[in-house]
Amino acid sequence: MARFDLDERFWHGGDYNPDQWLAYPEILEADIVMMEKANINTVTLGVFAWSALEPEEGTFTFEWLDKIFEDIHAMGGNVILATPSGGRPQWMSEKYPEVNRTDALNMPHHHGFRHNHCYSSPVYREKVQIINQKLAERYGQHPALSMWHISNEYSGECYCKHCQENWRKWLKKKYGDLEAVNEAWWMRFWGGTYSSWSQVLPPSPLGETKVHGMDLDWKRFNTDMTIDFYLHEIEPLRRLTPDIPVTTNFMAEGHDQHDFIPLEGLDYGKFSKYVDIVSWDSYPDWHNRYESLAETAMKSAYVHDQFWSLKQQPFLVMESTPSAVNWHSYNKSKRPGAHILTSMQQIAHGSDSTLYFQWRQSRGNSEKFHGAVVGHDNSTQNRVFQEVTEYGKRLDKLAEIKGAGKQVKVAILFDWDSNWALKRGGGFGRPTRLYPQTLQEHYAVFWEQDIGVDIITSEHDFSKYDLLLAPMLYLMRQGTMRKLKQYVETGGTLVSSYFTGMVGETDLLYVGGWPEELQEIFGIKPQELEMLYPDEHNRITFEGQQFETKDYSEIITVQQADVLGEYQEDFYRGTPAVTRHILGEGTAYYLAARTNRDFLKQFYQPIIKELALADSLAKNPIYEVSIQTRIKNGYRYYFVMNFSEDVQTIELSQVTADIETGQTVEAELRLAPYETRILKAVK
Ligand code: GLA
Ligand code: ZN
Repeated sequence: MARFDLDERFWHGGDYNPDQWLAYPEILEADIVMMEKANINTVTLGVFAWSALEPEEGTFTFEWLDKIFEDIHAMGGNVILATPSGGRPQWMSEKYPEVNRTDALNMPHHHGFRHNHCYSSPVYREKVQIINQKLAERYGQHPALSMWHISNEYSGECYCKHCQENWRKWLKKKYGDLEAVNEAWWMRFWGGTYSSWSQVLPPSPLGETKVHGMDLDWKRFNTDMTIDFYLHEIEPLRRLTPDIPVTTNFMAEGHDQHDFIPLEGLDYGKFSKYVDIVSWDSYPDWHNRYESLAETAMKSAYVHDQFWSLKQQPFLVMESTPSAVNWHSYNKSKRPGAHILTSMQQIAHGSDSTLYFQWRQSRGNSEKFHGAVVGHDNSTQNRVFQEVTEYGKRLDKLAEIKGAGKQVKVAILFDWDSNWALKRGGGFGRPTRLYPQTLQEHYAVFWEQDIGVDIITSEHDFSKYDLLLAPMLYLMRQGTMRKLKQYVETGGTLVSSYFTGMVGETDLLYVGGWPEELQEIFGIKPQELEMLYPDEHNRITFEGQQFETKDYSEIITVQQADVLGEYQEDFYRGTPAVTRHILGEGTAYYLAARTNRDFLKQFYQPIIKELALADSLAKNPIYEVSIQTRIKNGYRYYFVMNFSEDVQTIELSQVTADIETGQTVEAELRLAPYETRILKAVK
């Protein structure tokens, strides 16, 4: 049985587009032979194959796909079958223009590109259900079918009449009456008060662009519409193939802006509740010019951990490149050895797959220079093919780890809507809000010490964590405050900061300032949030040392907390910058200033010690070597990864066995540049 949970292998493979090569039978034949050589066991079929499956309305041509299914099955492989809604056929756009999006300037788009259908269009929804039903009927019982891949990288928004109607419906459901909308969005400001529902339009450069509450709700609406469309897509699949798990590939973004964070446009915290397994497309900017490889690895680790945390179960890397992408400004190939290292990192953080975009490089069109397992030379001899082959071989030896869990005691809180609201609001420093980027700064301290971290939303259970970091949680619902208070009172350790709890659910400021509940948790009261220019700094004292601050200094007064650090300069010199408040069984820290990582390291050290969070396999963990742990059947599996171009030696705190060679490893481990070792120990 090929179904995901029953397959004992890690999945290794990726996007396979035979539909581009139907006129080249020799290529299709070579594909299967080469896949076996490369230790590929899984392919994703059908992404963008709609025009090959339904070349004319109502005419279906599944025969080519039947053959591929058989071939993959014959080689013992799994099929992840995509629904084709990510790219609709030309005939559909021509006959039913409403399937295409209308942009924020009211401009209806014609056919082109992909991922740009209207989520509301009744015609599109109907057509998608027809093709999805046909796919489920034809392949639902096929032994190679292992998972459904719904559409591709959902994103974007549409402003057509249907979407506007849905927008108003959504608002009516949320707010009940128009007066509540006027209040939530503070529409009396600039006299924008609505007097009839028909006046309510989406935010657009043609109309409202400054109503923050509206922008926030529009983002939420788009997540809900995308989920609604997705649920519509999966209806026939659930009905006909209730045992086949369903996923859709989530994304990360940032790259050339030096960031690497989960996509900001859709609330994946919410979306993940509707998928059986989380999957995502991982394209960090390896070997860039602006940071060390270890720093890129830290960011990549953060994103893996965030996708893990959505369900706290193994996820899939649905796409990654075996060499280069084609859409960064500079598209560097992975150096020899880096492919195995960066792929092992996926498994180390909880992925049960390494899947690629793409199996074979396309011959023409937009992505012809994107990396692939098989290049234009069609050769099994080239470096990329060889490395993929070797990786597949190694992955097979790790099979006993598949499905392994993690044991995590530290969590970082991130809410998509808080991020949207903070980014949207005026004031302060526009380029320096940097919410997820700041969370990564905190994360880096733990990553350096090989301490596992989950990145959760306000809806997750806090009580299982010994330490919870919730800096910059700008938008905070009353329910979250209650949860945080209870968390601390019952023994949790909480860290928060400037920007926290400024607004409620609809981005309205709390009347009378900082909510009582937060004052009770932290024992302080914020007075002013001072913005610093990029070249401006303050200094704070902490444990006898001085640390530079940047971007933000919040001026606070203390009610009951202990002051651990004070500002050294400016008109607020001598006022508290770092505080600690004991509440019930727990402790709540408040960081009023933004600092560099040197301070964070110093700040967290005593907390890590007190809570006994450090349990690295390395006696002296270093930044360049990351050790991540997965746990299964009473064993701990340590992935020891050298993210540097140098040989690294670490001293081990425990005797382990190398899972690939069976040899005992104790005392010392020497890692070649880019090397990964996987060590096993009794828990
Ligand atoms: C995305 C898409 C793929 C492909 C890759 C290229 O992840 O899903 O179809 O375009 O990007 O990196
Ligand atoms: Zn629309």
